[in-house]
Amino acid sequence: MTVPFHRGRRLRRTPALRAMARETRLQPSQLVAPLFVCTGRGVRQPIAAMPGHARLSPDLAAREAADLAALGVGAVLLFGIPDAKDDQGSAAWDPDGPVPQAIARIRREAPDLSIWADVCLCEYTSHGHCGVLTADGVDNDTTLPLLARASIAYAQAGADVIAPSDMMDGRVGAIRAALDDAGHAETVIVSYAAKYASAFYGPFREAAGSTPQHGDRRGYQMDPANVREAVREAEADIAEGADIVMVKPGLPYLDVIRAVRERVDVPVAAYQVSGEFSMLHAAAERGWIDLPRAMHETSIALCRAGADLVITYFARELARDFQHRAAGAAAEVRG
Ligand code: PBG
Repeated sequence: MTVPFHRGRRLRRTPALRAMARETRLQPSQLVAPLFVCTGRGVRQPIAAMPGHARLSPDLAAREAADLAALGVGAVLLFGIPDAKDDQGSAAWDPDGPVPQAIARIRREAPDLSIWADVCLCEYTSHGHCGVLTADGVDNDTTLPLLARASIAYAQAGADVIAPSDMMDGRVGAIRAALDDAGHAETVIVSYAAKYASAFYGPFREAAGSTPQHGDRRGYQMDPANVREAVREAEADIAEGADIVMVKPGLPYLDVIRAVRERVDVPVAAYQVSGEFSMLHAAAERGWIDLPRAMHETSIALCRAGADLVITYFARELARDFQHRAAGAAAEVRG
């Protein structure tokens, strides 16, 4: 008699069996597609480090959003690139700025898509920091009302979700109170609760022109060595009114996603950031990795770690693949 051993390969033999044994699934409705919005009309400025992505004027951003909605993508996340910057970042709350204009346009052209507006000052300040700069660094408390002002401008324009990415303390509470006072009690807050001071934001900063003129963001973004602190940040944001919490970047922080998932009851989002996207493209360009497979593998990894939502620059390609596969499966069934 032979010693019985586990035949794990039984469930890997055919695509149908593998599909039945699959533990984690990612649907297009869980995807959030970041878009960079600039001013003007008919403007499309490709971003060199991010193949397939461009800075889009509100009209083209709305067209892109409508395409994403048709593919079943759940939401777009808007980042603004203003014409002019100042030390306060006042273009962030300009009701005629690129983000409010894009929101209004997307609302018309893709009425069912959920619209997320990133809230931060770094794209709008001349110094490139995420808040008000003083001799002692980025001042937390004077930044809060400015973030609240920007949030109201985006909610007013029709955003469903406000997503503060600045990492100031107390901003979720300040934004929640301001939104409620302004009659936007239904507006959702997704907080970038655990946002790390990461090398992987490089291509984004090129795209948004938001590299700090001097210094770095380590005084407000999290230390990559910490995970318990991430849980504390998530809990604090939820206590202040965050409806969804985010971990960012994605792949280098899978343990953080897991830790947060196990400690909170709200949905958890993971952000596969620009550097993660560009890195995969660069390796694929050299023929070193297979891009479509790497795209699927990295996004499902975020879900397996515990993310309910995935913010990714691959949203369009992922959703398109999903549609193709569904069409292929239907054809197979029809014979
Ligand atoms: C703004 C912000 C950044 C990203 C999202 N919001 C850049 C930063 O903190 O420097 C990065 C996103 C990406 O790299 O894809 N604070």
